[in-house]
Amino acid sequence: MNVVKVGLLGLGTVGGGTVNVLTKNSSDISRRTGYQVVVSKASARDLSRLRICDTDDIQLTTNPEDVINDPEIQIVVELMGGEEPAKSLILAALAQGKHVVTANKALIANHGNELFAVAAKHNVTLAYEAAIAGGIPIVKAMREGLTANGIDWLAGIINGTGNFILTEMRDKGSAFADVLKEAQELGYAEADPEYDVEGIDAAHKLCILASLAFGMPLNLERVYTEGISKVTPLDVTYAEELGYRIKHLGIARRRNEGIEMRVHPTLIPEKRLIANVDGVMNAVVVKGNAVGSTLYYGAGAGAEATASAVIADIVDICRQLGNTSSNAVPALGFLDTELKDLPILSIEDVETAFYLRVPVEDKPGVMAAITSVLANNGISIEAVLQKESEHHGENTQVILLTNCVVEKSMVSALKEIELLDSTTGAATRIRVESLQ
Ligand code: NDP
Ligand code: HSE
Repeated sequence: MNVVKVGLLGLGTVGGGTVNVLTKNSSDISRRTGYQVVVSKASARDLSRLRICDTDDIQLTTNPEDVINDPEIQIVVELMGGEEPAKSLILAALAQGKHVVTANKALIANHGNELFAVAAKHNVTLAYEAAIAGGIPIVKAMREGLTANGIDWLAGIINGTGNFILTEMRDKGSAFADVLKEAQELGYAEADPEYDVEGIDAAHKLCILASLAFGMPLNLERVYTEGISKVTPLDVTYAEELGYRIKHLGIARRRNEGIEMRVHPTLIPEKRLIANVDGVMNAVVVKGNAVGSTLYYGAGAGAEATASAVIADIVDICRQLGNTSSNAVPALGFLDTELKDLPILSIEDVETAFYLRVPVEDKPGVMAAITSVLANNGISIEAVLQKESEHHGENTQVILLTNCVVEKSMVSALKEIELLDSTTGAATRIRVESLQ
């Protein structure tokens, strides 16, 4: 059987997982591709580090260029992370006519437009299934399975670390910092965990999903981004009392006026399947105009789950070897010449319902004052929870669910509410989506 040699840049969580899965499933992978897929060389920074995989048959190097310059290596798999030196190494590999697989969403979101053009110029593939939602084959689903559809919207839990933290906070009342540490130990978190906690990693993934959905160039700087660091256990509890779960969602939606791209904590009705996606699991709902709503679910991070997506790309490339790539699936699912610069909406123009929590003095007239400000801004109320304080005159909380309202109206109403005499602190607001 012919051999395809693969070179790995990076041998950490995902690199090690990739070696392990290629080893344990080598016979099935050969039967699926017609090739024996062999990792012949791998680079890492510190060769003395203990690895999660057996490296006896792999030539190890601290110099990533040894991998890309090896003439026998046909597929380079970048699993180092970060923008540089990953970008330069990938460009060098593509220029040598090598196919590249990456799990690096930061790189694709920031530089994908350039990298895909270079890959096309050299007639090679730059594949990135593992960059979004870990092991879920969402790129395959969007580019191929749903290709008949116009996409109306998609919404996803697309950061495993963030979902793991929210779940542990809700189920066990664990402290944010402790759960983050556990996620890091399990290999879920990014090298800089701020990327997980502040929504940056989810923004990278959402930006790619939006381009796959609507056929537009990657536009990372236009993704509205809010993380989970301000979500409190109090809001998680109140949301549940109202029949909702708080999830960190990435949402892309086509409207007549333009495209919404946003990443933020969101209240979702607890009866939706996606509201019950817990721990490190990810899920993406995609609403197509022919198929309706579809849901993709699976592990969003972790060594072997992510390796599953990396190896799916390697298998696709093996199946293409020997063919010209002119028939290959385009990088963003639309012909490169057909990508359109669609207008993208600013968050002020996005319309959603809201959960509000307003800290107030416990005295008569407080609720009337708040509802009157909302009414004056054209905002109607769907549900109210007023928490009693233990002693009259102490501070308490008013919790409200509003109907759909354009963001700028909510911003101006909240400014007024925070200026009321009875308001004792900053109001919390979390957007609400029905996902129907
Ligand atoms: P790790 O930190 O576990 O592994 C990174 C590997 O790259 C290590 O082997 C490291 O060497 C090597 N490396 C890092 N920087 C350099 C450098 N500058 N020069 C040479 N080698 C370098 O990361 P992960 O495996 O977790 O992540 C890899 C990629 O996969 C990232 O882009 C990440 O976002 C993405 N990803 C991760 C997932 C996960 O669950 N972890 C899921 C989906 C995507 P050494 O081991 O010696 O330190
Ligand atoms: N840090 C990422 C997450 C890894 O937790 O989702 C998978 O992309």
